Amino acid sequence: MATSLPSLAYCNESQVTIVGAGHVGSALAQCIAQRDLANVVLFDVIADRPQGLALDLNQARSHGRYGHTIRGTNDYADTANSDLLVITAGLPRRPGMSREDLLTTNGNIVAEVVRQSLVYSPHASLIMVTNPLDVMTYLAWKVSGLPPQRVMGMAGVLDSARFQTFLAAELGVPAGDVAAMVLGSHGDLMVPLPSYSTVSGIPVTELLPPDRIQAAIDRTRHGGAEIVSLLKQGGAYYAPAAATCAMVESIVLGQSRILPTAAYLTGQYGLEDVYLGVPCQLGKGGVERIIELAALTPAEQDALMRSAASVKQSLNQALALLLT
Ligand code: NAI
Ligand code: 2OP
Repeated sequence: MATSLPSLAYCNESQVTIVGAGHVGSALAQCIAQRDLANVVLFDVIADRPQGLALDLNQARSHGRYGHTIRGTNDYADTANSDLLVITAGLPRRPGMSREDLLTTNGNIVAEVVRQSLVYSPHASLIMVTNPLDVMTYLAWKVSGLPPQRVMGMAGVLDSARFQTFLAAELGVPAGDVAAMVLGSHGDLMVPLPSYSTVSGIPVTELLPPDRIQAAIDRTRHGGAEIVSLLKQGGAYYAPAAATCAMVESIVLGQSRILPTAAYLTGQYGLEDVYLGVPCQLGKGGVERIIELAALTPAEQDALMRSAASVKQSLNQALALLLT
């Protein structure tokens, strides 16, 4: 049974279902609620957990002054007619778990939750968060049968935020003054772009020496692992939730912001039939436009190719494992 409290009359009617009420899912629910973006349904297979989280979040409403509803459920029927599905269900990689284990475990979870959610919300768009991100997004798209514009993955917004944070720390400026761009896959082969990163409009390459930019790049590449090693158990969730929330906001409010997004490529950047992080305009229909950066350096273009090749290799491995 779902838990809910009545909504206030002024709210818009968008509904976002978050599948997976774990660390990222619950922090995302809080972020959407605090920004008053949409009604939220939290779904999980763990009995009563999403209901408990929803009740807790509802009890913050009077102080948070948000009007939309937050419901928790273990029944897909309660997620019906969602406009947006955010999939955070899955396991993080644990000690002793191989990459292949993660591919099959999360691949099976993603296939199941995408199929089940779409039965009740056939008109929804999908944002994938589950790792390995680029592979899981491709898998979700395949299973969903949706047009690729309606299936996308979150990673670039998070990786770019990490790059912004580390550049800001190097420069001693507020992170909000830094606009940085990270493309490619979510992992060691991500492609931070100093040539497209600025501070109050000034290219970062004019403000920092190459070795300090490289230090920020290296820390960004290992941003997730650094947090895992500090937390000892589980991974990052506040920044991942905030990054996903930015995508949700742009879609639900039709803002058409340009955000780095794992999108299905059909020849852009010389790549096709792969999901990879590229700048996209996100609005009501999902990915409204994929932007091809015209001035990537040869090294950046090569790095993007390597990133795509590694995603394709993992994808083939995942498909082989899931089909056997
Ligand atoms: P978590 O373990 O806290 O939460 C995962 C939740 O999924 C659990 O509550 C679990 O019960 C639920 N779940 C498992 N199977 C399910 C199913 N069949 N149906 C519905 N729910 C199910 O993990 P956390 O930290 O929230 O991370 C979630 C995923 O997001 C992981 O794969 C993690 O690696 C990934 N992630 C991706 C990021 C990105 O940048 N794309 C950033 C951070 C995390
Ligand atoms: C992160 O980058 C592990 O994908 C997760 O924090």
